[in-house]
Amino acid sequence: MTDKLNIGIIGLGGIANLHHSGWERVENARVVAGSDINPAMLERWQTEYGVANLTTEPSELIDDPDIDVIDICTPNRFHTDFTVAALEAGKHVLCEKPLAPTVAEIEKMIAARDRSGKLLMTGQHFRFTGAAQAIKQEIAKGALGDIYHARAWWLRRSGVPTRPTFIYKDISAGGVNLDLGVHVLDLAMWFMGNPQPVAVSGVTRTELAKQDGAFSVWGGDIPADIDVDEFSAGFIRFENGATLVLEVSWMLHHNPPEDYQTWLYGTNGGAHWPSAGLYQTDNQVKQHYDVSLKLTEDKIRPHHQEIEAFAQAIRNGGTSPVPAEQSLQVTKVLQALYESSCTGHEVVIA
Ligand SMILES: NC(=O)c1ccc[n+]([C@@H]2O[C@H](COP(=O)([O-])OP(=O)(O)OC[C@H]3O[C@@H](n4cnc5c(N)ncnc54)[C@H](O)[C@@H]3O)[C@@H](O)[C@H]2O)c1
Repeated sequence: MTDKLNIGIIGLGGIANLHHSGWERVENARVVAGSDINPAMLERWQTEYGVANLTTEPSELIDDPDIDVIDICTPNRFHTDFTVAALEAGKHVLCEKPLAPTVAEIEKMIAARDRSGKLLMTGQHFRFTGAAQAIKQEIAKGALGDIYHARAWWLRRSGVPTRPTFIYKDISAGGVNLDLGVHVLDLAMWFMGNPQPVAVSGVTRTELAKQDGAFSVWGGDIPADIDVDEFSAGFIRFENGATLVLEVSWMLHHNPPEDYQTWLYGTNGGAHWPSAGLYQTDNQVKQHYDVSLKLTEDKIRPHHQEIEAFAQAIRNGGTSPVPAEQSLQVTKVLQALYESSCTGHEVVIA
């Protein structure tokens, strides 16, 4: 490894742009290579970002001894093979969410990570918002006490991302659960201290996206052959007795048209993200009191904070800021939720 971290990004579509700008902000890193199966993306990255080493063959990045970090921004189905290959080639890996669609795949990734001794991080940028960091600090100080219930939702109105990356199972492996659900679920479980999930009851549906003329403000007409979930609701039980209600949708007659929130309820207080409000009760004086953590807008984008945290962990020999073990627990919930929707029964997680 040189004194700079050399980064290779695989998958140069939408989110990769934010990764590029994130890495460019890191003092000791530079994006030296990129790979995409679409040659038009390579041309764009050459003209817009001046990246020199661009190829349609991702293995060229993985095998390149001068590259230290592989950053995976492909559709979900390709996360596992690229992650395992990159770890086996001795690279650190930052992989977009969901780390992988199934428990078995994440277990393979963890095994490859442990063989390699390199860092593996999931791109869960919500954790890096100022509000999330502030709430997490309050939780550590005991402001909420024992968190025994949470609600997490991300509800959109006409908000299907219509790119194949998201709407066809053979590429995405799942719909809104793997797109939006994984974000708010990861955040809620992280706030709760990553308790072990033990049972999930849930449903997934595709209703409005299948209607004639269905459209999305996130990409125009919705292809009629969309084959993934657009709506999902679940009830999750954890080993410590805590519970969580999850609701996510790309298409719901909901207002406001973009609404993502997480509520936490504990024995000492409650908290709300993203407003960073704390809600407590003083039983002695019989009064409620609310505290606003009074945050200003995030000055640095959370995606960039996420990349900075990963770079620092690599430099300092630290641990992954978003460990794969935590993504494994989140995926256990989502996989059980899909299964519960198929069987119509609660699924017990072994
Ligand atoms: N954290 C976030 O905020 C966030 C936001 C959007 C997407 N994502 C995640 O990022 C990933 C990509 O999403 P996107 O919105 O950038 O999708 P996208 O469709 O805009 O881009 C994906 C790119 O990957 C390329 N690609 C597809 N298969 C490939 C392969 N086998 N090898 C190399 N390149 C390949 C495509 O040509 C395309 O350019 C998904 O896993 C998604 O869940 C995360």
